[in-house]
Amino acid sequence: MNEYIIEMVGITKDFPGIRANDNITLRLKRGEIHALLGENGAGKSTLMSILFGLYRPDAGQILKDGRPVEVRDPNDANALGIGMVHQHFKLVHNFTALENIVLGVETTRNGALRMDQARTQVMALSEKYGLMIDPDAQIQDITVGMQQRVEILKMLYRENEILIFDEPTAVLTPQEIDELMDIMRGLAHEGKSILFINHKLAEIKQVADRCTVLRKGVLVGTVDVADTSVEDMAEMMVGRKISFGIDKQAADPGDVVLSVKGLSVAGRHDKRAVSDVSFDVRRGEIVCIAGIDGNGQSELVYALTGLMPVESGQITLNGADITHALIRKRNDAGLSHIPEDRHRYGLVLDYDLQQNLVLKKYHHEEMQHRSFIRVGSVRAHAERLIRQFDIRSAQGPDTIVRSMSGGNQQKAIVAREIDTDPEALIAVQPTRGLDVGAMIYVHEQLVRVRDQGKAILLISLELDEVFQLADRILVIYEGRIVAELDGKQATAQELGLYMAGSRKETA
Ligand SMILES: Nc1ncnc2c1ncn2[C@@H]1O[C@H](COP(=O)(O)OP(=O)(O)OP(=O)(O)O)[C@@H](O)[C@H]1O
Ligand SMILES: [Mg+2]
Repeated sequence: MNEYIIEMVGITKDFPGIRANDNITLRLKRGEIHALLGENGAGKSTLMSILFGLYRPDAGQILKDGRPVEVRDPNDANALGIGMVHQHFKLVHNFTALENIVLGVETTRNGALRMDQARTQVMALSEKYGLMIDPDAQIQDITVGMQQRVEILKMLYRENEILIFDEPTAVLTPQEIDELMDIMRGLAHEGKSILFINHKLAEIKQVADRCTVLRKGVLVGTVDVADTSVEDMAEMMVGRKISFGIDKQAADPGDVVLSVKGLSVAGRHDKRAVSDVSFDVRRGEIVCIAGIDGNGQSELVYALTGLMPVESGQITLNGADITHALIRKRNDAGLSHIPEDRHRYGLVLDYDLQQNLVLKKYHHEEMQHRSFIRVGSVRAHAERLIRQFDIRSAQGPDTIVRSMSGGNQQKAIVAREIDTDPEALIAVQPTRGLDVGAMIYVHEQLVRVRDQGKAILLISLELDEVFQLADRILVIYEGRIVAELDGKQATAQELGLYMAGSRKETA
């Protein structure tokens, strides 16, 4: 038997304006977990999409068990036992979990759909691999972690042997990440072969056997993870040594900028999502809301930014009441927002990059005159941000944002929101999907904005990020602020107890 289940040999793929993959060779061993690492835009998703039949390579060959195969489309991939969980999931939102899993491979008898058999099989798989789901829940009502389990079950139901995960942990909570790591180990143990794109070096270290590194479309090399340090992997990836961690002086908070008093927000299914929350964010400080996903963070942010109405309470910005103000009005008063869902609230995917970068400003005098857009100004503005934030794309300001890599889409949002010179910046998971270099850059920018005397409200599920940036930490649990901690003194353990609701501070 061939040692390699899949070999991609000399793969080249061009897109207009860019060579996304340049003569890349990657060999996947049977039963291994193989990580794929590289900066944002390095060509990782492209390479995996070629293996899954979404793109045809311009040159190169794919071998399965040592024999050349054609992967013209995802049906071919499926027939070869290749499955993929995408960076942005591809589920039908108003179908149930079970319906999504069997979609395309339904069992029928005399032309009628037979779901009972499928249900038994799916539940058996779910049991076997510890992938707990509610088969009858609609996708739109379940958490991202659960959606991901549905995607994994979809591959297992199709008896896929080669499983591709494109940044599976970027959207998960720390608990879900641990679970996923266990599931991946279990799958590899069963003989499945796994390809795993990830920016988090610690996770690669934890779960992967080997790691292939790409840089700007080119293969840098493949290493055994056990023999390679996190620092070495990072250096392979960016081509120079990088220092982890950032310099941050103690905060020197000034006047209150953003103030929230007794805020309550309605949630789904007649439940309150946010209950009687009060806090202030002052000039020159980063206040972080920490909590397990689904404890009211999203609704709190939607209320602050005007995406959702408030039930009761008051929000003020520099003393002015904005509780019921229109979104445009909040923006013009100096509120910026890096949203959690970049596709839904952050970008217009079919606009080009320069249009997306000017979304918050196009109505300002510098960008338009008597309702005519100043084309030159818009372009110059985009070019400046592209340079400053190192936003990589195929065609610069003219690139349609949909075609950009996930991390570069994120960088575009961060650039736009920081550049509006906000009074208060609400940043939700600002570094989701960013490579380590870009992540450190964004962290430095947030600290810089703070030091310019702005107020920052950070919402993050990642404890590393919280400890790295927060001057003060507010813990949210079941829609209430249950603790306030000093960013310098709080420990992970203490924070964890509050986040899990097993400890309460009496305010
Ligand atoms: N469908 C497409 N059309 C045009 N250009 C594309 C398309 N898909 C990807 N590209 C370009 O190819 C390059 C590689 O993109 P890819 O999505 O593979 O990066 P990545 O390594 O997955 O990055 P990230 O970590 O940000 O997800 C990028 O410059 C991107 O703009
Ligand atoms: Mg990608």
